[in-house]
Amino acid sequence: MAKFFINGGKKIEGEIEVESAKNALLPILSACNLIDGKVRLKKVPKFLDVLAMCDILNYLGGKTLWEEDDLIIDMSSPKCGDVPNSLADKVRASIFMLGPILARQKKVKIAYPGGCDIGLRPIDLHLSGMRALGAKVVEKNGYIYCDGSNMKGGDVILNFPSVGATENIMMAAVLTKGKTRIYNCAKEPEVVDLQNFLNACGAKVYNAGCSVIEIEGVDKLTGIEYQTIPDRIIAGTYIIACAMCGGKLTIKGAIAQENQVLLSKLSNSPCIIDVKDDKIKVKSYGRPKSFGELETAVYPGFPTDLQAQTMALQCVSEGTCMIVENLFESRFKHIPELIKMGGDISFRDRVCVVRGRDKLYGADVWASDLRGGASLVLAGLVAEGYTTISNIELIDRGYFKLEEKLTSLGLNIKRI
Ligand code: EPZ
Repeated sequence: MAKFFINGGKKIEGEIEVESAKNALLPILSACNLIDGKVRLKKVPKFLDVLAMCDILNYLGGKTLWEEDDLIIDMSSPKCGDVPNSLADKVRASIFMLGPILARQKKVKIAYPGGCDIGLRPIDLHLSGMRALGAKVVEKNGYIYCDGSNMKGGDVILNFPSVGATENIMMAAVLTKGKTRIYNCAKEPEVVDLQNFLNACGAKVYNAGCSVIEIEGVDKLTGIEYQTIPDRIIAGTYIIACAMCGGKLTIKGAIAQENQVLLSKLSNSPCIIDVKDDKIKVKSYGRPKSFGELETAVYPGFPTDLQAQTMALQCVSEGTCMIVENLFESRFKHIPELIKMGGDISFRDRVCVVRGRDKLYGADVWASDLRGGASLVLAGLVAEGYTTISNIELIDRGYFKLEEKLTSLGLNIKRI
């Protein structure tokens, strides 16, 4: 089992390019099940979650081929509509295969998804969406059996603006005859990116990014070349790294307004942030100031995927911060590990209070999930002394060659 070994206390200095967004790539890889032809996705990082989705596409009878950083997917002639537990269990986004397989092959047998252990993560909204489009859905023996032979467009009302359910239902509707309206949709940029990808392939999807998405079913989608939006969570992670370590960082290929809330929260800290075109320049020259209070929310609110990284920042900020995690019921597993490093944090259920300290101390810690692991990397980078992080495969799910990128910025981190 690999580990990260970090010698903390170095300043950040340099420039980094943000990779393509993991949470845009995963639904788009699922959408390839709708397409009768080849898709070339450009500049795809080998996130472990991306590799897990490729394994599922190959199992379904598709072909996936890497040409350097480009990923070519051909789902022209799938051999089955089954996703076994061994593959579904590896990644939450496996459930995104349901809608597209159902729409094109009409029959699906899929196991329950895996993914980061940050809560129960039910899929009831996904299944009720498929039923609203006329699919028969039966859950039995740990599998979900769906029959889409009588599907037709219709109205779907989401009780919660779930990102995955919005995307899954969009994909189910694009090849389903008639008009579909999805109410109370997620507005994340990755939902908009999925719409743009689908429409480039010949679909008719409208108003993604708003709360009611409309889809006109079409007969066929054809393959294209496509590059997704940049990863706003990776960009946010680097911004926080600079605020914590001090120094100067230029983040290229980022969309600043997707991190507007984070950037505005940092405006009280001794951080100069310049945004020009697709570059965010961060200059941090002193101890950050506490955010005071922070509540995670659906987009465009503060992203739950930056909550853990922000908590590491609050641990070394001046002042006290209350953090409320509104999206997932157990997304605080990084707290005991941050406390091992000297973090002064108390918590109950979804609320925690972080009293900023001027210093953290290196320790042996354990990554509990993807973003919790990222928060421990950030804490290790500023801690006095050595930090070892175990279970870093979870971090590799959503950060590619993180240690190489941080080393190129003058920080001291190795994979051992
Ligand atoms: C997506 O997960 C992201 N993953 C998550 O990123 C992100 O944290 C989350 O959206 C929220 O922004 C991908 O896009 C692959 P949800 P998803 O459905 O779709 C409840 C990361 O670190 N819910 O919007 O699973 C659910 O329990 C990952 O990159 C239901 O109740 O999130 C949660 O409380 C972690 N029933 C809330 O909705 C359902 O059927 C938000 O979940 C579906 C969800």
